[in-house]
Amino acid sequence: MPSAPEIRILKGSQELFEAAAEEFTTQASAAVQSCGRFTVALSGGSTPRSLFALLATKPGVPWDKTCFFWGDERHVPPTDPQSNYRMANEALLSKIPAPAENIFRIRAEEQEAATAAQQYEQVLQKFFRLSPGAFPRFDLILLGLGTDGHTASLFPGSPGLAERHRLVIANWVEKFKTHRLTFTFPVLNEAVCVIFLASGADKAPIVRQVLENSDAHLPSQEVRPSHGRLLWLLDRAAASALSTDPST
Ligand code: 6PG
Repeated sequence: MPSAPEIRILKGSQELFEAAAEEFTTQASAAVQSCGRFTVALSGGSTPRSLFALLATKPGVPWDKTCFFWGDERHVPPTDPQSNYRMANEALLSKIPAPAENIFRIRAEEQEAATAAQQYEQVLQKFFRLSPGAFPRFDLILLGLGTDGHTASLFPGSPGLAERHRLVIANWVEKFKTHRLTFTFPVLNEAVCVIFLASGADKAPIVRQVLENSDAHLPSQEVRPSHGRLLWLLDRAAASALSTDPST
């Protein structure tokens, strides 16, 4: 039974990223303690860059036992400014002692996006030793929120919303006229912990829709871990349109 989302509202963006870094570190330590490794899927876009930069300065994170994956990626090479891998590498991975063999990026430079999706599925199946039809259980999945209610690269009206068997798909995004590589909802909902991070007043209207309008049927509302934790970390600006302060 999906648990109710926890919603924490932090004063400003600095406090937001501090809280997110603390949650990250707590999840990492707990996972390493219980099973010797920490598996995390990073989000893309602009919001997590400050979190990654902060995490790079944090002592006590078990980077040697952390395995990095991506919840979604743009169909571009890792050197491209649009690349989620590139952003994470610049802000975090290049600054921490993370063994290269623990970094599993999406090979989005593949000509065919579908090929990159299949390859990444095989990476997940091998790493998590999945039996056919099983889904990987990440210790932590970081997610962002688009102003249209998308998360990862699961956009409103996109074909990938209905996918219930695949782990990773090449999802056609009409408004960008391109494919995006993305985890599917079953993978997101299998996680031990999912953290949504949203910052800034431009996110306030959609945060209200997602958290207060169950009839909105937005992709982000489909993320309800079946036996895991769902945490929304918001700064006051992103929470400013909420009718009540759910964190009190
Ligand atoms: C991506 C992301 C996407 C992102 C949202 C929010 O590749 O773009 O994974 O889901 O989290 O679009 O993006 P911002 O943080 O830039 O607002």
